[in-house]
Amino acid sequence: MSAVKEGNTLSLFVNGKKITENHADPETMLLSFLREKLRLTGTKYGCGGGGCGACTVMVSRYQPATKTITHYSANACLLPLCQLHGAAVTTVEGVGSTKTRIHPVQERIAKAHGSQCGFCTPGMVMSMYTLLRNKPQPTMEDITQALAGNLCRCTGYRPIIDGCRTFCQEADCCKANGANCCLNEGESTDEPQHETPQLFDKSEFLPLDPTQELIFPPELILMAETASPQTLTFRGERMSWVSPASLEELVQLKTSNPKAPLVMGNTNIGPDIKFKGVLHPLIISPTRVTELFEVTQTPQGVFVGAGCSLSELLSLLEKLVHQFPEEKTELFRALIQQLRNLGSQQIRNVASLGGNIMSVYPNSDLNPVLAAGNCKVIVISSGGRRDVPLNQDFFVSFGKTILKPDEIVVSVFIPFSRKGEFVRAFRQAPRKESAFATVTTGMRVFFSEGFRLVEDVGIYYGGLGPTTVSAAKTCTAIVTRPWDDETLSRAYDVLLDELVLPPSAPGGKVEFRRSLALSFLFKFNLEVLQKLTELNVITDEPPEKIHPLPREIQPSLQEFQRVSEGQNDQDPVGRPIMHRSAISQATGEAVYCDDLPRTDGELFLAVVTSSRAHAKITSLDVSEALQLPGVVDVITAKDIPGQKVRSAFGYDEELLAQTEVSCIGQMICAVVADTRAHAKRGAAAVKISYEDLPGPVFTIEEAIEKSSFFEPQRTLEKGNVTEAFKTVDQVYEGVMRMGGQEHFYMETQSMLVVPVGEETEFNVYVSTQWPTAAQEAVAETLDIPSNRVTCHVKRIGGAFGGKVTKTAILASITSVAAWKTNRAVRCVLERGEDMLITGGRHPILGKYKVGFMNDGRIMAADIQYHTNAGNAIDESLLIVEKVLLHMDNAYNFPNLRGRAAACRTNLPSNTAFRGFGVPQSIMVVENMVNDVAMVLERPVDQIREINMYKGPSVTPYKFEFSPENMRRCWEECKVKSDYGARRRAVERFNQQNRWKKKGMSIIPIKYGIAFAESFLNQAAALVHIYKDGSVLVTHGGTEMGQGIHTKMQQVASRELRIPPSKIYISETSTNTVPNTCPSGASFGTDANGMAVKNACQTLYQRLEPIRQKNPKEPWESWVRAAFFEKISLSATGFHRGPDLYMDWEKMEGQPYAYFTYGVCCCEVELDCLTGDYRTVRTDIVVDIGRSVNPSVDIGQIEGAFMQGLGLYTLEELKFSPSGLLYTRGPSQYKIPAVCDVPLRFNVYLLSDSNNPHAIYSSKGIGEPILFLGSSVFFAIKDAVAAARSESGLVGPFSLDSPATAERACLACASPFTQKIPAGKPGSFKPWALNI
Ligand SMILES: Cc1cc2nc3c(=O)[nH]c(=O)nc-3n(C[C@H](O)[C@H](O)[C@H](O)COP(=O)(O)OP(=O)(O)OC[C@H]3O[C@@H](n4cnc5c(N)ncnc54)[C@H](O)[C@@H]3O)c2cc1C
Ligand code: FES
Ligand code: FES
Repeated sequence: MSAVKEGNTLSLFVNGKKITENHADPETMLLSFLREKLRLTGTKYGCGGGGCGACTVMVSRYQPATKTITHYSANACLLPLCQLHGAAVTTVEGVGSTKTRIHPVQERIAKAHGSQCGFCTPGMVMSMYTLLRNKPQPTMEDITQALAGNLCRCTGYRPIIDGCRTFCQEADCCKANGANCCLNEGESTDEPQHETPQLFDKSEFLPLDPTQELIFPPELILMAETASPQTLTFRGERMSWVSPASLEELVQLKTSNPKAPLVMGNTNIGPDIKFKGVLHPLIISPTRVTELFEVTQTPQGVFVGAGCSLSELLSLLEKLVHQFPEEKTELFRALIQQLRNLGSQQIRNVASLGGNIMSVYPNSDLNPVLAAGNCKVIVISSGGRRDVPLNQDFFVSFGKTILKPDEIVVSVFIPFSRKGEFVRAFRQAPRKESAFATVTTGMRVFFSEGFRLVEDVGIYYGGLGPTTVSAAKTCTAIVTRPWDDETLSRAYDVLLDELVLPPSAPGGKVEFRRSLALSFLFKFNLEVLQKLTELNVITDEPPEKIHPLPREIQPSLQEFQRVSEGQNDQDPVGRPIMHRSAISQATGEAVYCDDLPRTDGELFLAVVTSSRAHAKITSLDVSEALQLPGVVDVITAKDIPGQKVRSAFGYDEELLAQTEVSCIGQMICAVVADTRAHAKRGAAAVKISYEDLPGPVFTIEEAIEKSSFFEPQRTLEKGNVTEAFKTVDQVYEGVMRMGGQEHFYMETQSMLVVPVGEETEFNVYVSTQWPTAAQEAVAETLDIPSNRVTCHVKRIGGAFGGKVTKTAILASITSVAAWKTNRAVRCVLERGEDMLITGGRHPILGKYKVGFMNDGRIMAADIQYHTNAGNAIDESLLIVEKVLLHMDNAYNFPNLRGRAAACRTNLPSNTAFRGFGVPQSIMVVENMVNDVAMVLERPVDQIREINMYKGPSVTPYKFEFSPENMRRCWEECKVKSDYGARRRAVERFNQQNRWKKKGMSIIPIKYGIAFAESFLNQAAALVHIYKDGSVLVTHGGTEMGQGIHTKMQQVASRELRIPPSKIYISETSTNTVPNTCPSGASFGTDANGMAVKNACQTLYQRLEPIRQKNPKEPWESWVRAAFFEKISLSATGFHRGPDLYMDWEKMEGQPYAYFTYGVCCCEVELDCLTGDYRTVRTDIVVDIGRSVNPSVDIGQIEGAFMQGLGLYTLEELKFSPSGLLYTRGPSQYKIPAVCDVPLRFNVYLLSDSNNPHAIYSSKGIGEPILFLGSSVFFAIKDAVAAARSESGLVGPFSLDSPATAERACLACASPFTQKIPAGKPGSFKPWALNI
């Protein structure tokens, strides 16, 4: 080390500008550096752990050895700033801006309606931009790969994909429904192309011109070419960073600091530091040691430098498989398959091969394949070099290998395969892409000459133990034997005995994991048999070839009505107008709460939460926290000057717990400090002691047993259920359990409370759906009148019901800190905290008894619903009511009884979530209808049709309505989806395939719009016309991606007869429009639209005399004239919505203004051996009256459907037996990603529908379609039923929601799942609770 100079200056470029840092802190990640230091807030924080892609940037580096520049996408949240010496970083701001020019990627995602709340959009832009920098004409596969690690909770991805698709070569991209479009196959193409209105016009798009991109800074090239190697050292508050310049120096460093980690991609060490609080005083960064990046080819195989990224490894292997004969590249191909599915592209671009091996994840995707493939690592230390085989001895235990702490992996040897050798890899993960595997495996077999006997075999698994495990005994049972049924069937039995997981194994899914082990061996068997057949070793009938599930996303259809011929060209109502902020969202200029600049002396607040589910707080010691650098104060309940609780329905919820806690995650106190990092460290230093209280209640069953409910419970009854059961042909009883759902809005809960400095006045900038609720809560907490608190909401990065009650509580706590310190205080929850604290959708347990006739008529149903409400009432009572009000869904059951209760448990309180109980309610009912069909052995669509409302109808609560449009949706959906023919095709497919099955379903929804609490059906607006003719509209709705501001702009444009460009909407604030109602219940446009209309009409009428005088003058001159004539150019508007009510005593009322209808048909393909499935096609027909904005409404439909798909098939919250939420980030909780989009995703808005109850005859649409995601669930259930019939199982069966791969696979009851003994309930403590 002495021979080289030490440097401590970090030089990098950001968006073409040189940045020099003399005091880079090793703990600083690029994301916070960009956002806080450079004020480049376009790059967003979504999770901090590489799992969401919101922070994606492009990193470019010059490689002096090859004299090339590489560009790759990376997650800024995991990129240590110190790692970026010599790199050029491009953020969304560097790609394009409204001040200069927007980039075609930004334009196309925005104009294709791919940005709703916009929080994910900069990340999407950056992933796509990086792809285009490397490949200006990508394929669809390139695009889906590039976007696989970018989550979006709003759009459902379809519009993003369609926008990006426009960069594909024409040959890859069909004409999206136009003439000769592949989608029109079999459909009439007589209609001329221009007759079909399109959501966007491709011809408007700027061309992609690669010459316009930022050039790589020549200074960095010079630096890389000429700089003499220098050790780089950076020292921070708690951590030092050393980047050696040579291998020799690296070895010396590691010898003297064996405990210091080698940080390459930081994708393992980074999350450990962030989420597990691991502190490394010294970090060694070997990224400049060239030997770690060398690739050498030999006749036996290839040595790959341990520092090579997984993307580099993938490209190398892809190149090699083209250069060498197939038989030599068996192992390479197996590795390629794993690498394509490992993490996201952003992760693979930085994660190193050596890092992956040495992280020794129990479910590493590479280690089992490398081990099965007889690879070895070449390691170096001060003791010299040695080769170490990657075999069963290598993986010692959790996180441990046989390597010594000072040994460094220099390279990995990957051998060519030999003639007669077959290698395969399989993995099954909770989501198809960007998810750690549940079980992953590498398998290799080598046959003796003539393929008679197995000479050698290697089988390794990940996910079946604390580290990669070898199935050594199974291998022994196979080796020296012929590859035949006898050998294999013995092998399955040995494997089952060999790889035993205890029933309470960490990670759960024990039966599934064990059955996957068998299924993978079976799949390997099929593949080997296939190979042997191809080589004519076997001459029998070839076994079934299990093709991978289809994955190519095709262009989709969006059908909507053109505006009427007479409509003025300038009138935007009814046209697919782009979200009004989409461009600023795509350029990163759109401002979210945490993007607001820091104010002078601003503090950050971090909350401290309970670690016990039910306990007395015996002491709270904040002394250590107060000693820490930067910590200013700790806020407890004692500091609250006003109301210490929020109250609802007679129950109190404490803002900060004082003496007792009732769930893990309940807030107890909050630490305020000068920076985020200091506040978090302060929070971690608060010491709380507890005394556990007896009998915490977690599950619905426990709550029922202990009668732990929030009262009142509700009942709704129609007809005489008891009597009706006596007259029916058959009775069936069933149970349906449905898990909860995390909102996973991309922007976590965020707020900034700024004391104005006089008369206890506060400005509250908050990401909430209900500014008035936050205002009231802050005022009550501080014991000041509401007129001192102004809440401002510019936009919200997604909400879905989760930013109402909990946001008000958080804003109250933050306001106490601001009041006490008299300084601005910001609170932005980390993703994990947000998931832990704020609750989500209520899990539900539905029990039903149904009586029906043999002809399919359901005559009686008795349903009992229990929701898991958690520790506070929140809105649970209203949710329970809505559950009952929707239990009839589309069906006229003559006798129906529903009872519903909210269970009080020791889990974080659940709250509103898009659909507000309806998605749970109807799920139970549809499952019941499904069971009836299965009992009767009749197609379920027929049973649905038989029982559907017809003609003038009455709901169980005696509300009269016409179901005509629902039936039209049903019929149209059957036609559009070609239901009959495709059902027959599904049946044919199922007869021909044993291990893959298809399933279909068609499901209706009838959804009530508006608030049953009548007072919430009101809205107000304030419209100003300024002297230059520009118009400022303010209304009570908040913009959370649903496009309400865009629609309000359209309304104002129509009413004032001016183009939308003259109209601006700045924010929602309580000092412009007071006493607002929440943006929810799909009622925002209905209510606020009428208020804006009312205000605009007032203003338009005031201008009438001026217009009369000068009808030909432009708008601006009328406005000026009006000002000079002293006419007020400001008006309020008000809408008094319908007087709705529900009388629960009488069980009657009119709780809704009208119904929105929809029907969805889905088809899935299921791999019965793994439970993996793909939605092949989705067709949705929706009646939303006359759409105010078809692009916004279709966006709501697609987004809600995908959120429903997540709810019913993917998203699983897991709680520990002590009530701790395990799933606290995107790594553990999987929301749908690009890989989950239906391959064909068609949406049709019902034509010729009018709605007299809402603005311009439209209908509310935000929530209803979420339930239709269940059609994927029922299609899976249909496919599972086909699989079960192969095992001789017929009739109803239980499949809980979500129908994850685990549940679907186990329900298929294959011979492999049937081999797994189920753990005896009660004999062990399961890893997770079934809440
Ligand atoms: C969101 C996300 C998704 C992921 N998905 C998957 C997945 O699906 N499948 C999967 O297999 N993995 C997955 N991973 C894990 C990822 O592949 C590994 O974290 C990564 O390969 C580690 O490499 P790194 O360079 O980032 O390691 P670092 O974090 O930099 O280092 C990890 C460890 O390896 C040691 N190390 C690094 N290089 C060497 C060396 N040359 N010699 C000795 N020790 C060394 C370090 O000391 C350290 O202890 C995922 C990770 C994330 C964050
Ligand atoms: S914030 Fe970086 S990936 Fe989520
Ligand atoms: S638009 Fe993608 S998360 Fe909101």
